[in-house]
Amino acid sequence: MDVRFLLDGETVALTGVDPTATLLDHLRYTARRTGTKQGCAEGDCGACTVLVGEPDAAGTALSWRAVNACIQFLPMLDGKALLTVESLADADGALTPIQTCMAENGSAQCGFCTPGFVMSLYARCIGAAGSALPVADVLSGNLCRCTGYGPILAAGEAAEPVIRDDAALLVQLHALGDARADAPRTPEDLADLLAEHPDACLVAGATDVGLWVTKQLREIKTPIFIGDIPALRQIEEGASGIRLGAAVRYAEAHAAFARLHPDLGELTRRFAGLQVRNAATIGGNIANGSPIGDGPPAFIALGAELTLRSKAGRRTIALEDYFIAYREQDLRPGEFVESLWLPRPGPDDLIHISKLTRRFDSDISAVCGAFKLTIREGRITAARVAFGGMAATPKRAAACEAALTGADFTLATIERAADGLRSDFTPLDDVRGSSAYRLEAAGNLLRRLWHKAHGETVSVLDLETIDG
Ligand SMILES: Cc1cc2nc3c(=O)[nH]c(=O)nc-3n(C[C@H](O)[C@H](O)[C@H](O)COP(=O)(O)OP(=O)(O)OC[C@H]3O[C@@H](n4cnc5c(N)ncnc54)[C@H](O)[C@@H]3O)c2cc1C
Ligand code: FES
Ligand code: FES
Repeated sequence: MDVRFLLDGETVALTGVDPTATLLDHLRYTARRTGTKQGCAEGDCGACTVLVGEPDAAGTALSWRAVNACIQFLPMLDGKALLTVESLADADGALTPIQTCMAENGSAQCGFCTPGFVMSLYARCIGAAGSALPVADVLSGNLCRCTGYGPILAAGEAAEPVIRDDAALLVQLHALGDARADAPRTPEDLADLLAEHPDACLVAGATDVGLWVTKQLREIKTPIFIGDIPALRQIEEGASGIRLGAAVRYAEAHAAFARLHPDLGELTRRFAGLQVRNAATIGGNIANGSPIGDGPPAFIALGAELTLRSKAGRRTIALEDYFIAYREQDLRPGEFVESLWLPRPGPDDLIHISKLTRRFDSDISAVCGAFKLTIREGRITAARVAFGGMAATPKRAAACEAALTGADFTLATIERAADGLRSDFTPLDDVRGSSAYRLEAAGNLLRRLWHKAHGETVSVLDLETIDG
């Protein structure tokens, strides 16, 4: 496979590339850019953070995003621009402003994590994706084992914006074109390709597939890269709801989600770290079928519909029907996830979405609960309740919903519905939580909805009744 990209404005043209070779290995072992470190090789630590740039939708400016090089496959870089920590050095070797801020604030001890932090903070300084977020959120995907985060956050706060002149780079990128002539550019191309290769593995952001390669050492036989199909990257916001193409990344969807409902925005803020959100797609999160994925329970509670497409045409299903059994989804040979439709909540809808994790930043849910209650004149006329982390799939809570539907919106109703969860779910014991913890916590998330509706802010810890 041929791949071409710009590294510091120089064209890198690679031929015969192994499609699942990682960008990190290329940087360290071929380009010898060893400033980019390998910590975890699974997208958790941010030591391998680099910046990827591509023309924006209008094609008139370059938009940059920080990603983890350890789980980016080289073909995903085709036609893009790349900056590594070495790119920041001035010709005379002087420190760049963010490096000066790190030094002045004593933000490094062993220094292993430092290039990753510098790249995340540099991304914020140049207005890259997510740069409007507070410094702590921008650094949610970077781990440091020795300095402590205070001095690093201080460096981030002290750093001034940097104006980059990317005009020449943009011209170069447009001229670079596309080395991967065989890559699908439209959903039609993708449907044709999948009809020929029904066993192919779609790769969108590679934040799941990347780990199959780096951690499970799996061979991905026929990868098809779909992250650059423009029609799958559209977000259409309307009065009645939003439609998201399958290849829309979580970071790109954040603002639209927050406008749909603040809880969905907050869930997105707590989805992994920024580097992962800058790659992870909505379609990948759904298609991966994980029982602890964060998007599916929230989308199901909101009443989402999924559009699936193949050469034979399209079909649209309720999202909950997509999840059949553990890692078994309603995806036929040759089919792919094309888009997700999320209806906008109405004035009578009470929404609550809550994610419980062991660590606040960049952690997968132990339990993720999502609730949509339609309440008219004190009565619950409809209820949609869905959980992640409670069953082998993201799942609606039928008994809980039945206890809510048609009942008065009272604490007694909430308690009956929380009891219903005990017949809805027999959760697993695992490292993220015991079965008993999960059941209790799920009920408490419902109780939290009640308190929230009455203007009270309650920590789930205050509601827990389990000893230890
Ligand atoms: C450090 C880290 C933290 C994470 N934290 C979270 C978290 O907090 N919450 C959470 O929910 N997840 C989390 N994840 C998991 C992951 O980021 C998400 O599941 C992500 O949305 C997957 O999207 P992707 O584009 O990277 O998928 P990929 O890895 O590219 O693909 C995943 C699967 O979906 C299939 N696929 C992709 N697109 C399509 C399509 N359009 N049609 C059909 N099949 C398709 C692929 O073939 C593959 O089977 C985390 C991952 C990492 C590495
Ligand atoms: S090496 Fe840890 S995120 Fe890449
Ligand atoms: S300075 Fe040592 S890991 Fe951060």
